[in-house]
Amino acid sequence: MAYNLLKGKRGIIFGALDENSIAWKTAEQVHAEGGTFVLTNAPIALRMGTLNKLAEATNSQVIPADATSIEDLEKLVEKATEILGGKLDFVLHSIGMSMNVRKGNHYTSQNYEFTQKGWDISAVSFHKTMQVLYKKDAMNEWGSIVALTYMASQRVFPDYNDMADNKAYLESIARSFGYFFGKDKKVRVNTISQSPTPTTAGMGVKGFNGFIAYADKMSPLGNATALDCANYTVSLFSDLTKRVTLQNLYNDGGFSNMGVSMEVMDAFMKGEE
Ligand SMILES: NC(=O)c1ccc[n+]([C@@H]2O[C@H](COP(=O)([O-])OP(=O)(O)OC[C@H]3O[C@@H](n4cnc5c(N)ncnc54)[C@H](O)[C@@H]3O)[C@@H](O)[C@H]2O)c1
Repeated sequence: MAYNLLKGKRGIIFGALDENSIAWKTAEQVHAEGGTFVLTNAPIALRMGTLNKLAEATNSQVIPADATSIEDLEKLVEKATEILGGKLDFVLHSIGMSMNVRKGNHYTSQNYEFTQKGWDISAVSFHKTMQVLYKKDAMNEWGSIVALTYMASQRVFPDYNDMADNKAYLESIARSFGYFFGKDKKVRVNTISQSPTPTTAGMGVKGFNGFIAYADKMSPLGNATALDCANYTVSLFSDLTKRVTLQNLYNDGGFSNMGVSMEVMDAFMKGEE
């Protein structure tokens, strides 16, 4: 069901790789709500050509940009405002990658070049994106910037590896930059802490099937899907949430406030009845 919540709003959506991507679902929902946008991803991710399908379906253009490159980001913001015909109202940062996770390095045995690369892509790219938007004065007042995170930033999930540290840094950037964006430009900055979701980045984490099933059993409403996350993001891009800023918002079916659930207890009490 569409409510035209984003009618007349323009933005940039980072990180749609394939149909499973949270950013892909978000682009579809933003389009359904009347928003217009430019899609972007790293040049290497665009080689597959999959993103063209989404661009066609949402009547949008694709601009390649490595989110760690200031030069790419500057060109992206310049072109996006030109194509869309004005300043931006929303930006979604949906980017994550850990080389240590990819190469199977244990948290206690990191390759620090990989650590730095993953940090730059997963966390600092959010600062770089906002710095470019801020310096170019590219956001409209009451605009909204959202990045996606995971609760391993706040609690221990051993296999989430150095991505846990990257997410803690990302959430801190949202608060720190959000202060200046709020004060100087009246722009909101928030992170959404999403349930485990079966995407390329998600399934790259060791033991993913185990912890997606565990999270589902722990959450009174079950895991939030990519579509749930897309809809939450739409609400944060809309005028209905104008003074929500500097927040890390859980979209996780209640997982973050649970201690234990009956389903999880039952699994440990077999034979005790
Ligand atoms: N899947 C989950 O379980 C889960 C849970 C919570 C949060 N998140 C977060 O959601 C976001 C989106 O991930 P997803 O799960 O949709 O997976 P995904 O693999 O579909 O998306 C990750 C995206 O990051 C892009 N990317 C990587 N390096 C880049 C670079 N240098 N420049 C620009 N883009 C680059 C990839 O091309 C890809 O499109 C990430 O921040 C992720 O950490 C995912």
